[in-house]
Amino acid sequence: MSDRYLRFVESGFGRWFSRKAGLPQPVQLLRAAAGEPRLPTLLGGSADSPLQASLRAQLAAMNLPDAPYAPKVHALVFDASGLTSVEALAELYRFFHTHVKRVASNGRILVLGLPPEQATDESVRIAQRALEGFVRSVGKELRRGITAQLLYVDPADPAAINSSLRFFLSYRSAYVSGQVVRIGPPPAAAVPATDPARPLQGKRALVTGASRGIGKSIAQVLARQGTELVALDVPAAENGLREIAHRTGGQYVALDITAADAGAQLLKHGPFDIVVHNAGITRDRTLAKMSEAEWSSVMAVNLLAPQRLTEALLQGDGLKPQAAVVCVSSISGIAGNLGQTNYAASKAGIIGLVQSLAPRLAAIGGSINAVAPGFIETEMTAKIPLGIREAGRRLNSMSQGGLPVDVAETIAWLADPASRGVNGQIVRVCGQSLLGA
Ligand SMILES: NC(=O)c1ccc[n+]([C@@H]2O[C@H](COP(=O)([O-])OP(=O)(O)OC[C@H]3O[C@@H](n4cnc5c(N)ncnc54)[C@H](O)[C@@H]3O)[C@@H](O)[C@H]2O)c1
Repeated sequence: MSDRYLRFVESGFGRWFSRKAGLPQPVQLLRAAAGEPRLPTLLGGSADSPLQASLRAQLAAMNLPDAPYAPKVHALVFDASGLTSVEALAELYRFFHTHVKRVASNGRILVLGLPPEQATDESVRIAQRALEGFVRSVGKELRRGITAQLLYVDPADPAAINSSLRFFLSYRSAYVSGQVVRIGPPPAAAVPATDPARPLQGKRALVTGASRGIGKSIAQVLARQGTELVALDVPAAENGLREIAHRTGGQYVALDITAADAGAQLLKHGPFDIVVHNAGITRDRTLAKMSEAEWSSVMAVNLLAPQRLTEALLQGDGLKPQAAVVCVSSISGIAGNLGQTNYAASKAGIIGLVQSLAPRLAAIGGSINAVAPGFIETEMTAKIPLGIREAGRRLNSMSQGGLPVDVAETIAWLADPASRGVNGQIVRVCGQSLLGA
């Protein structure tokens, strides 16, 4: 769906008018199609910080070397892992205060710290926890399509951040901002991808709800990266399914995921390296008016089916070693939403599912994570009344809605075998929406 206001603001008059009137000023976000960023990166943080040497080497290998004197930079990367006290946080202030104006539009801010919960020293714990408020505020201040993230890295294996560095510094993470991601050492069995350009080559991937909307985009992005795709949707969506299978050279399964034998049916198409639980429905109504059928149908599709299917795949050897399961939650599941007690409960339950299954997936060398989209331009959101739709679109740091591809690219990052150190995490794809944490 087209965002007319965004196009208006792009015109000379529109930019002038929106500035004078104090209206939101979204910029066209650069996405994967824009290629790799050309401007350099500026790396900050003390030379003897635990992550510094590895970080410098990884950035150089990505052709994003440190460029202290460049007038404009794509990214400011600050290694805060050496900050051990509140007083030391002034280094963070000085680095960003000095350089923040050099970040180009669609640029990136990345802060790396140590997981506060692992720190035994009280002072370290406080300083590292403070990073979160800093990064979330920077994301809200910079606008111009600039994103800001905090990666809490287990110093036992700084190389485990490589796929995350690549993702968050690239244009693939266009609509992800203000996120805090914890990255531990991958399970011992995890094998890194051989080709960072096509990390999913030859992997067998199941995507539910793949005939349209976000699911269709997930199917396309995974297929473009080389997966053998199995696209699933309800029998009524068979035409759309056939088309997506044809376009991606994959297979399709017309199946209702709430069917009693859905798990057994899926096992016939596995085992899978990647499973994306994307299918979802809404039946919005305020609680007093909501029927029990509206409650239970949303629970059945959005939560019970992912729970049962994952269990069936785990028990029936339907997941290959190092498999990645990615669920689609929602910011409604984090913040709650009027008229969505059923939907928000189901999407919050998905977060519970991810957190409780993370150790079991780690035991097979795999991972389970969720993305939580905000306002994404789809057929579903096109039907929202104009006033509410405009509020959903503008009330985030990007002042615009995301595209299905933004959710799909985030899922592809989590599915990358080199991302197994990211497990049990919830990553919002919401342009740093005002709703939620
Ligand atoms: N669009 C947004 O802004 C947004 C925001 C947050 C979360 N989400 C979530 O993203 C996911 C995709 O949303 P979308 O906007 O693309 O919705 P959509 O309605 O366009 O697509 C959902 C797909 O799931 C399929 N599906 C529904 N019930 C099924 C069942 N029982 N078995 C198999 N397939 C089934 C539908 O046929 C459809 O193809 C959903 O989980 C949704 O809750 C969307």
